Amino acid sequence: MSDQPTNSSRGQWGSRAGFILAAAGSAVGLGNIWKFPYITGENGGGLFVLVYLVAILLVGLPIMMAEIFVGRTTQKSPVGAIRDLSKRGSPWIMTGWLGVLAAFVILSYYSVVAGWAMHYTWITMTEPFTGQSADEISSVFGAVFGNTTINTGWHVAFMVITIGIVSMGIHRGIELCAKILMPTLFLILIALLIYAMTTDGFGRAAEFLFAPNTENFSGKSVLEALGHAFFTLSLGMGAMITYGSYLSKKESIVSTSIIVSILDTAVALMACLILFPIIFSANLEPGAGPGLVFVSIPIAFSQMSGGAILAPLFFLLLTFAALTSAISLLEVAASYFIDELKWPRLVAVLVTGFAITLIGIPSALSGGTAMFGSGFQELNAPLLAYLGHENGLNWFDLFDYIASNWLLPLGGLAIALFASWRVGGAARQAAFCGEGKGMTIYFVWLILLRFLVPIAVILVFLNAVGFLDWFFALFATAVEGG
Ligand code: PHE
Repeated sequence: MSDQPTNSSRGQWGSRAGFILAAAGSAVGLGNIWKFPYITGENGGGLFVLVYLVAILLVGLPIMMAEIFVGRTTQKSPVGAIRDLSKRGSPWIMTGWLGVLAAFVILSYYSVVAGWAMHYTWITMTEPFTGQSADEISSVFGAVFGNTTINTGWHVAFMVITIGIVSMGIHRGIELCAKILMPTLFLILIALLIYAMTTDGFGRAAEFLFAPNTENFSGKSVLEALGHAFFTLSLGMGAMITYGSYLSKKESIVSTSIIVSILDTAVALMACLILFPIIFSANLEPGAGPGLVFVSIPIAFSQMSGGAILAPLFFLLLTFAALTSAISLLEVAASYFIDELKWPRLVAVLVTGFAITLIGIPSALSGGTAMFGSGFQELNAPLLAYLGHENGLNWFDLFDYIASNWLLPLGGLAIALFASWRVGGAARQAAFCGEGKGMTIYFVWLILLRFLVPIAVILVFLNAVGFLDWFFALFATAVEGG
């Protein structure tokens, strides 16, 4: 257990609102506005949304509380926090390492998508798509994805901005940035939502999103919904441990976690309610994949008055959302070196930021043909087929797949088990219940973390490796045979 009080040289949030905005800034990101709409489209809509909401409530929220608890209690970044709560050399510390690894992997490709958002902000501002046909506009995304210079250039630019903000520290860098960007983001979202409600496609979009629809929904969809619950709430890699470590022990874990989760879910649903009406009104395909926002938004805005202003505004929003999340990813990586190896913040941020920029280069080159070496493809054909990428290796998709479907759920599972079984019960209960208040919530939380979360995550893993299919087939044969 840490006997250290708040370590002021590490920095601390200026206020509770500052923490909530920064944590919401981490949670609300490309995951909500770029990824959630396109995976919802690919998985058929309503049923997927429902599974996702259940995953947020029963799995995501309890893990967020666990992470903030671990961070707030120890006032340390993941590796140190877990060491403090277990003991030196304990295998649980690997959870912290896994988080640092996930930060490197995720930020490397996240920054490439953020680069697309910056590029689209720029092109919609300088050469609006007004008057172009839907086909012409769609082809722009393909050209951007295939242009390695554009991708690498914006990726590097985005990383430089992220590095700049994180190097300024918790209070003056991260919190200040979140305080300005998050309210702006909400205003832009509301304006766009009001517009979307006036379009013809709004009714169809609402039906697509909220009526349970089994078409395109499969076992893999459940894995994806759960994986996305981790991704969107920034869980499973210690981001919330790190942010929680700068939180004063006076602040409530439960209420801050609930507010952050509600804000995040609201933004994801709003993003869908903005995008799908536009997609349906313009007769576009909801399952279009990662290009969905980059194609549908420019098409919609090319056809309406004021679009020349709204389109860049939307992409600016996407850039801001990405920035506040990228900041938290870099903070996880850097805080390890700051806390564990005692590096000065500036050095830690520059070194980790530079390394991540390099690791991101293959993702930035993913759309160019150079990466699709045929020898590699043949060797790895079964893996590629399993990932649904028979046509070539794409670092970008591979990184996203590994991080969201494996690293984060695995990290989340470890944190859930650690916080609910390993950490001393008295300290845990004291962190949640002041003077006997909050006992019910505490026990529900504990039971979810101890039993439901591990079972859900393990089932999803078994399903992903095909074990459940195999098991059910075996079961069916046995029943028929008997
Ligand atoms: N939650 C962020 C998003 O939705 C992504 C993220 C994942 C950020 C993990 C930090 C840690 O875009």
